[in-house]
Amino acid sequence: MDKPKVVLGVSGGIAAYKACELLRRLTESGHDVRVVPTASALHFVGAATWSALSGNPVSTEVWDDVHEVPHVRIGQQADLVVVAPATADTLARAAHGLADDLLTNTLLTARCPVVFAPAMHTEMWEHPATQENVATLRRRGAVVIEPAVGRLTGVDTGKGRLPDPGEIFEVCRRVLARGVTEPDLKGRHVVVSAGGTREPLDPVRFLGNRSSGKQGYALARTAAARGARVTLVAANTTGLPDPAGVDVVPVGTAVQLREAVLKAAADADAVVMAAAVADFRPATYAAGKIKKKDGQDPDPIVLARNPDILAEISADRARPGQVIVGFAAETDDVLANGRRKLERKGCDLLVVNEVGERKTFGSEENEAVVLGADGTEIPVPYGPKEALAETVWDLVSERLR
Ligand code: C5P
Repeated sequence: MDKPKVVLGVSGGIAAYKACELLRRLTESGHDVRVVPTASALHFVGAATWSALSGNPVSTEVWDDVHEVPHVRIGQQADLVVVAPATADTLARAAHGLADDLLTNTLLTARCPVVFAPAMHTEMWEHPATQENVATLRRRGAVVIEPAVGRLTGVDTGKGRLPDPGEIFEVCRRVLARGVTEPDLKGRHVVVSAGGTREPLDPVRFLGNRSSGKQGYALARTAAARGARVTLVAANTTGLPDPAGVDVVPVGTAVQLREAVLKAAADADAVVMAAAVADFRPATYAAGKIKKKDGQDPDPIVLARNPDILAEISADRARPGQVIVGFAAETDDVLANGRRKLERKGCDLLVVNEVGERKTFGSEENEAVVLGADGTEIPVPYGPKEALAETVWDLVSERLR
C-alpha cells in the first residue's frame, strides 16, 4: 500500500525547529512527507535539514522543477496538509487565498484535511485580524489548533507557543484516520473531565482512586482533532502531556472539579464526565498531619457526601440541547446496573465498562457499551481508548445535529 502523503508546511517562526521533531514522527510512522517551507522559515531551519529528514526535495517557490507543476501537484496528491508552525502572516495569506509561494499554492489546491498549528506572540494571536483569519479557516473546514500557553521566544510567556510536536502528531494521526475535510465538531465547545479526584484528610494524605486520566485525555485529543474547542478539567493527571490545542484546567478535589465543570459547561455544547469523582470526602480536614497516639486505636474516618456533578448538570442543563455523557465502571450485571444509573443520573449517554476481569485503569485499552437515554445500546469492542473516544463523539455529534 502507498504511504499516506503528508505535506508539512513550515512558516517563518522560531518554532520551526520543533517541526523537525514532527517531521521525524511522521516519517517514522510510515508517512511520505513533503516539506514546503516558506522563504522566511529557511532563516530558522535550512533546506538541507528538511530535505535530509524527509528524503524529499524541498523548495519554497513555484519556479523549481516547473515541468512537474509542483504548485498544483503537491496539494492535489496530499492526504493531509499540516502547517506547523503557522505564523500570523501564513494564516492571513491562507485565509485570503493568496498564492504567492509554494505553500499557499499547495493550500489552494489541496482537497484533503488541513491542520494549522499556529505559533506567534500573544499580541499577534489575539489581534482581531488573526482571530478573524482563524475563524475563516475554521469555517472552511480546517482544524486550527489553539496555541499553548507558556514561554515564548524571549523571556516573555503567554498564549502563542507551538504545542508539543508529539501532540501535533497525534492530531495529524487522528485527522488522517478520519479522512474527512469537514470536521464535525467545528464551532463546538466541549468539556471533558478526566483523572481521579483526591479528597484530603490532612496536608499529606488523601482518599483517591486509580484513574489514570487516559480515557479523558483520549476524548479531549480526539475532539480537538474533530475541530472542537476543548476544555479538559484534569484531576490529578500529572505526567500526562497536555493534548495540543486543549485548554487544561487542573483540579484536585470533587468540589474543585464541580466548580471548574460548571464554569466551563456554561457555554458548552457537550460535557463528557470521564473523571472518577469520589462519592465521599473526609468530613473534616486536619490542618496539621494526623499523628498516631501511643496505646490508642486510630480515630475512625467520618465521610461526607460529595455533590453528584453528572446528575446536577444533567438536571439543570446550562443550554438547551446540551449533550451530557457519563461513565460508569461496573463489576457485575453491567447492563442492568448501567441502565439504572443512566436513569438516575439523567444524562444522554452512559459509557459502561466492566472492570475487574480486564484492566481498565491505567491501561491503553478499553471495552464498553454505550447506553443511550433513547434506549440505544452500542457495543464498543476491546481496543484503544481513542477508538472508544471516537465512538462517543460520533454519538454526541449525531445528537448535536
Ligand atoms: O455513581 P458513579 O460514581 O458510578 O457515576 C460515575 C459517573 O458519574 C462518572 O461519569 C462520574 O464522572 C460522575 N460522577 C460525578 N460526581 C460524583 C460521582 C460521579 O459527576 N460525585
